[in-house]
Amino acid sequence: MSLPGTLGAMCGIVGYVGPQDARDVVLEGLRRLEYRGYDSAGIAVVADGRLSSVKKAGKLANLEKLLAEQPLPAATVGIGHTRWATHGGPTDRNAHPHLSADGSVAVIHNGIIENFASLRAECEKNGVEFRSDTDTEVATHLLAAAYAQAAEGPGRLADAMRAVCRRLEGAFTLVATVATEPDTLVAARRSSPLVVGVGDGEYFLGSDVAAFIAHTREARELGQDQVVEIDRHRGLTVTDFDGGAVEPKAYTVDWDAAAAEKGGYDRFMLKEIAEQPKAIADTLLGRLGPQGELVLDEVRLSDQELRDIDKIFVVACGTAFHAGMIAKYAIEHWTRIPVEVELASEFRYRDPVLDRSTLVVVISQSGETMDTLMALRHAREQKARVLAICNANGSTIPRESDAVFYTHAGPEVAVASTKGFLTQVVACYLVGLFLAQVRGVKYEDEVSAIVADLRRLPEAVAEVLAGMAPVRELARSLAGANTILFLGRHVGYPVALEGALKLKELAYIHAEGFAAGELKHGPIAVIDEGTPVIVIVPSPRSRESVHDKVVSNIQEVRARGARTIVIAEEGDDDVVPYADHLIRVPRTPTLLAPVVTTVPLQVLACEIADTRGLDVDQPRNLAKSVTVE
Ligand code: AGP
Repeated sequence: MSLPGTLGAMCGIVGYVGPQDARDVVLEGLRRLEYRGYDSAGIAVVADGRLSSVKKAGKLANLEKLLAEQPLPAATVGIGHTRWATHGGPTDRNAHPHLSADGSVAVIHNGIIENFASLRAECEKNGVEFRSDTDTEVATHLLAAAYAQAAEGPGRLADAMRAVCRRLEGAFTLVATVATEPDTLVAARRSSPLVVGVGDGEYFLGSDVAAFIAHTREARELGQDQVVEIDRHRGLTVTDFDGGAVEPKAYTVDWDAAAAEKGGYDRFMLKEIAEQPKAIADTLLGRLGPQGELVLDEVRLSDQELRDIDKIFVVACGTAFHAGMIAKYAIEHWTRIPVEVELASEFRYRDPVLDRSTLVVVISQSGETMDTLMALRHAREQKARVLAICNANGSTIPRESDAVFYTHAGPEVAVASTKGFLTQVVACYLVGLFLAQVRGVKYEDEVSAIVADLRRLPEAVAEVLAGMAPVRELARSLAGANTILFLGRHVGYPVALEGALKLKELAYIHAEGFAAGELKHGPIAVIDEGTPVIVIVPSPRSRESVHDKVVSNIQEVRARGARTIVIAEEGDDDVVPYADHLIRVPRTPTLLAPVVTTVPLQVLACEIADTRGLDVDQPRNLAKSVTVE
């Protein structure tokens, strides 16, 4: 048997109540959430006092095929789900929605119900027969029982949902609909994402706003442990799990629907790579205040609190962690505050020393990554201050932080982060400069000079992108490689790690990034005749002759048979004799160089994957937003 506790983790959720045909709206919403990664899908609608549902393992095309064979009736209420299984088979029976025994209640779920085993035993004792291995089904049966007991009349389904939520442990977004209430949807959330879209006489639910921005950009944030009841005629009511009224925070989504479309590109990732100059420019836009001072989006910390900071942790996962590694070099250099960078999944388990004078910078494109969220909560429990760098407005991580810096990358749909990463790096620079300025370790004109360098980055990235034809050609010759190594020093080291991660996740090729100086301490043994080694060379103007040392490292690997692919800035002739392939990038100040040197690595990984015939936007086994620990 599978491990139901970990099923249904990173799922996509869609709900609709309104005059349009719910079948179309829900299916379209699911299509827009496809990028989250999933392995089965399902829909339920309520029409003519009956609940009808269809679900199928595999991609949405399978569900659509089934819908053509077993059409659902037109309806004004519907829910839809894409499920991403971490354990257990992605089968038809485990797909959502899950229905109560009499078929009158349907539930979709994202997250983990940790106490599902005892609740399942209780249901089974009461004679309930389970039809799936999921934890979700427990919530369905409990909800059906609570609904049967709840007082008839308006609010009955919400009453039942609150009663169930009070019994659940773990993280969950639940959305439910019931056959007898054709105008009502009820949803609940604890530590899993859910946003509400408000249109003209219609309402939407989504795991993120991509589910509904084609219809409305007016949204409501749902807080922790809240239940929302949507009634087509009575509107929206939000309460806590005990029934206390809550006023949801309204906001307008500043992404438009077109931003979440492919816009003429074959792949979302290609589009997102191409959008990087604009994404960086947008992230820099409006950051300087009237006196030339830097401004963040939301700061619930006083200047004195920021001046009192004596230590910084940067905490994130995956690509965002690599952005954090780059941040360490810049923030330490500019502020002279010690900075540690930590994987969110490790951070709280090693009992880090945190107090009021610690600043924890959490970085997350989605704002929903569970490891990062849990690290954030741990930091706040220890009284540390938390600053979030985030792309998704209205997501959980910025909501729970003391200060927020939004990257303005627009929706990032491809699972592999590209523009999300570059804008995170730029945001880290700005946060470093902001802190340096508040603490008086940099004068405003010094800050402005670096901001001027930052403002040249969009053009530099555009220049790199314009010269990518040879990189594409090179990619095709690398598509058969078994292993590719990446080397870098200083800020080039996280770039090497990021290049290796992109290649692993997109092309499924074994890849590793190393600090170039570490190579001689072991990894050099793996280099064989023809092993491709990609080297990110620092500027010849970098301090402490790091450049020359990397040039020596290229010679060392070449002497052992490596095929060297060198990324170096224009005019660096020292590398020419040792490069089997040379990729040029524009001259850029040392600390800012990752923004340009990362780009060829993104293109390379994307092209290698494409040559291998792989799904670049939705690589196997991965989900865009990792909402389990
Ligand atoms: C990047 O290409 C990834 N797919 C992944 O490492 C990602 O960066 C990580 O899961 C963190 O996501 P977040 O920025 O949304 O928190």
